[in-house]
Amino acid sequence: MEMYEGKAKKMIPLDEAKLIMEFKDDATAFNGVKKAQFKGKGVYNAQISVKLFKLLEEKGIRTHFIGIAGENKLIVERLEMFPLEVVVRNIVAGSLKKRLPFKEGHELEEPIVELYYKNDALGDPMINYYHAKSLGVSEEEIKEMERIALKVNEILKEFFKERGILLVDFKLEFGKNSKGEIVLADEISPDTCRFWDAETKKSLDKDVFRFDKGDLISAYEEIYRRISE
Ligand code: ADP
Ligand code: TMP
Ligand code: ASP
Repeated sequence: MEMYEGKAKKMIPLDEAKLIMEFKDDATAFNGVKKAQFKGKGVYNAQISVKLFKLLEEKGIRTHFIGIAGENKLIVERLEMFPLEVVVRNIVAGSLKKRLPFKEGHELEEPIVELYYKNDALGDPMINYYHAKSLGVSEEEIKEMERIALKVNEILKEFFKERGILLVDFKLEFGKNSKGEIVLADEISPDTCRFWDAETKKSLDKDVFRFDKGDLISAYEEIYRRISE
């Protein structure tokens, strides 16, 4: 595998089994249409991901996290990625408003899990089990990813609640390791989750950039501070 540079990270091969995942300061939204750079974002996302991967590992979730290689660099297990994004939602926000007759902030009775095909050229369309099967992902594999995603939701929802933060929704990516096991990959950060302050409902995530709601770095710093308590 060659070095891969994506929108938010660089994936640099370390050896046969490992990659360095380097978090950049670049931010994009709406499929790369809106772009900016925020000094320090890469470090916050790397540090927040480390804390959350460690928490999930402690709770029995298999993740790609191996170690730290620098303040914005993680060592991760090299995986064969599924071309999917698995989104879990607890509170109505973002694109869910286009799908259901609920207002922003409506608390869902049960979490909703959605699947998207990770393909920038197609604008990451929402898909179902049939589409996924045609892309080479079996029903059993999707069920397993959904099961893990819901468990991650329970763990993170509780963890953030104790810190005065509502976990509104988030996106996960999974891959398969050399043993054929499904492993949680990529990042878990304010770029890939929606976090609201429980009191004020203020956004503490990439919505600050998407919808020009204020200073992105202070929002990310606030998340880092609260999870470090
Ligand atoms: P994008 O590719 O959407 O622009 P990033 O800039 O975040 O996203 O790049 C990270 C890339 O690395 C993503 O394509 C992601 O699917 C992939 N990836 C994440 N974790 C792993 C892993 N453990 N092994 C291989 N690829 C991974
Ligand atoms: P959405 O409401 O825009 O569909 O986003 C749902 C969640 O997924 C939200 O927490 C942000 C995250 N997300 C990503 O991580 N990457 C993406 O490309 C998109 C569209 C959303
Ligand atoms: N991650 C997507 C992009 O880079 C969309 C988003 O997060 O809003 O454009």
